Amino acid sequence: MHSRSFIQEQIAPYQQSLANHLVTAVIILNGDLAIVYANPAAEALLNKSLYRLYSTDSEVIFANTSITTARLEQLLATGQEFTDSDIMVELSPNHRFTAEITASSVEFKKTPHVLLELKQIDQQKQISLEVFQHQQWLAARDLIKGLAHEIKNPLGGLRGAAQLLSKEVNNDQQEYTSMIIEQADRLTNLVDRLLGPNQLPQIQAQNIHGILEKVCKLVSYSNEKNIHLLRDYDPSIPAVECDQEKLQQAVLNIVNNAIQAIDEGNTITLKTRIASNKTIYGKRIKLAVHISIIDNGPGIPSEIQDTLFYPMVSGRSNGTGLGLSISQTLINQHQGKLSCHSIPGHTEFTILLPLKQQALKQQPLPQALLSQENKL
Ligand SMILES: Nc1ncnc2c1ncn2[C@@H]1O[C@H](COP(=O)(O)OP(=O)(O)OP(=O)(O)O)[C@@H](O)[C@H]1O
Ligand SMILES: [Mg+2]
Repeated sequence: MHSRSFIQEQIAPYQQSLANHLVTAVIILNGDLAIVYANPAAEALLNKSLYRLYSTDSEVIFANTSITTARLEQLLATGQEFTDSDIMVELSPNHRFTAEITASSVEFKKTPHVLLELKQIDQQKQISLEVFQHQQWLAARDLIKGLAHEIKNPLGGLRGAAQLLSKEVNNDQQEYTSMIIEQADRLTNLVDRLLGPNQLPQIQAQNIHGILEKVCKLVSYSNEKNIHLLRDYDPSIPAVECDQEKLQQAVLNIVNNAIQAIDEGNTITLKTRIASNKTIYGKRIKLAVHISIIDNGPGIPSEIQDTLFYPMVSGRSNGTGLGLSISQTLINQHQGKLSCHSIPGHTEFTILLPLKQQALKQQPLPQALLSQENKL
């Protein structure tokens, strides 16, 4: 059995460095509710060093939140601790975060202090929102697919019957049967798009920049708007295991949308990067390829931003609203994710494709492809 003083001596170094290694932000306020200590996690969260935070009034940090001076004073007086979740701390218009905050009373130098523990929850919230939206998207897509399937079957019969009928009727009446056949074909086309890609991807190691260049070439054939295309490629990206055709189709749909949205002479940027520690529908991915398709057009209409990837959501009068839903399916078939961030003047679609943890071999591209500006 060790003596109490021996154990205290042994644990002192751990106690001293503990706060430095915590992921939870810890702040200590004195009796006047001014900051007297912030651990490194708190410094990172508040984006200020302890030297700059020292003596700052708690009211400055927690303005307009439920962590009020009155509640903290009451805590000092009664020792009654409390936890508030979902507190939005706004330090400046560009620096805000949501946190769960626990406040308790501790005694230092024989005077009561306030111990605040802040756990940032933005990231978890973002992940659960993403998982939720993905489930909703899957449900909407399955519903549409089911419906499309039901339409497709009788459509075949309808077309066949019209064909048989056309042999029975005279030349004048053939106009009607051809009309039925034509419209049935149009509907079949639409239904096929509604059903989405139905083949499994043919996975092979591909040069991602080769695929992007193919897309550029395809859209260049009809560049009526004189659009500028900027490439910002990371040449060190290794070969990616993917289905060339499917990935090309996914990117093409996004680029076509951008072309339709932007004005004459505007810019589309294709950017590639390696990204680490990303999450794809809640699953942690160590290494990924990040492809961005950025345009400086008017942005996605706000009313469709939340449902952008759902089938049949369109902001264009002649759009079927299937392009992005199909792109999402194609990217999902590669265990990847397609997302979008859009404000007027900057719309960015991001494709994340998981990369096998392999040596990042140099794959130098022809110099002409790197960070250059081209007309489409
Ligand atoms: N880069 C962009 N800038 C502005 N709006 C966009 C952009 N990309 C997509 N959108 C909006 O998102 C909507 C949905 O796009 P999506 O490709 O799914 O369907 P669509 O283009 O309307 O029809 P389809 O592709 O099936 O012919 C578009 O109608 C458009 O309103
Ligand atoms: Mg489209």
